[in-house]
Amino acid sequence: MKPYSNIEIHGTGSPVVFLHGYPLNRSLWDNQVAAMKGRHQVILVDLPGFGSSLPISSEQFPDMAAFASDVRQSLSASSVDDPIVMVGLSMGGYIALEFWRQFPEQLRGLVFCHTKSSADTPEAKQNRVKTAATAVSKGTSEAVAPMLEKLLSECSRMNDPALDGWLREVMFSVPPKTIEASLLAMANRDDFDDRLSQITTPSLVIAGTDDEIATTETMQKMSRGLPNSRFEVIHDAAHLSPKEQPDDFNDLLLEFLESL
Ligand code: MLT
Repeated sequence: MKPYSNIEIHGTGSPVVFLHGYPLNRSLWDNQVAAMKGRHQVILVDLPGFGSSLPISSEQFPDMAAFASDVRQSLSASSVDDPIVMVGLSMGGYIALEFWRQFPEQLRGLVFCHTKSSADTPEAKQNRVKTAATAVSKGTSEAVAPMLEKLLSECSRMNDPALDGWLREVMFSVPPKTIEASLLAMANRDDFDDRLSQITTPSLVIAGTDDEIATTETMQKMSRGLPNSRFEVIHDAAHLSPKEQPDDFNDLLLEFLESL
């Protein structure tokens, strides 16, 4: 069966695969392409249902494992068979953990940005189920608007006012069924806290000083659990440091890639 994820490949070299968060698309990584592509093959993924990829339903993508295996299929379909470095932001990080569980031999490195290894609390799960129902009954904008204020730091909003417009355009154009499917799949995700010690793949963990969704404390704890990891904090960034502080983000990523 044809994979749902859609991928865009820039340049040649060792492959680095970028997985965006919810409810975004591959344009999250626009600032990384120019910085990386002379040295690495940059592979941007539109996850199933997002951006230019095919629409999905909750039955087809019930959990993060289904997203991870679809990404693997889309890489194979584009003949990306060498071991990769996978960079996952938030939901992309949940998928990267599942990718490690299913295909550890495919990974040279892992970069976890603004994400968590723990599963949802019962309350968080309930909220996701409610928001999924809102997306279907009232539309995407109503379901995702409350997230908007948490994604960017004050500093990012002041320095780059266009970021808010980009976010609204990307988030509000996601089909309601994709919102529903990805929320329910995140609510179903497994807890990886007790498995972190088995992830020996070299890892970089990136947090933002102003991130309320994946706090620096949560991410530092995640990094401590990973036996082969480095922890870095980006200043004046909330949940989307690749867009908010692209130079700092690119420096950290390039340094990590050079170290592998
Ligand atoms: C994301 O950015 O992907 C979301 O904040 C993840 C989540 O809702 O847990």
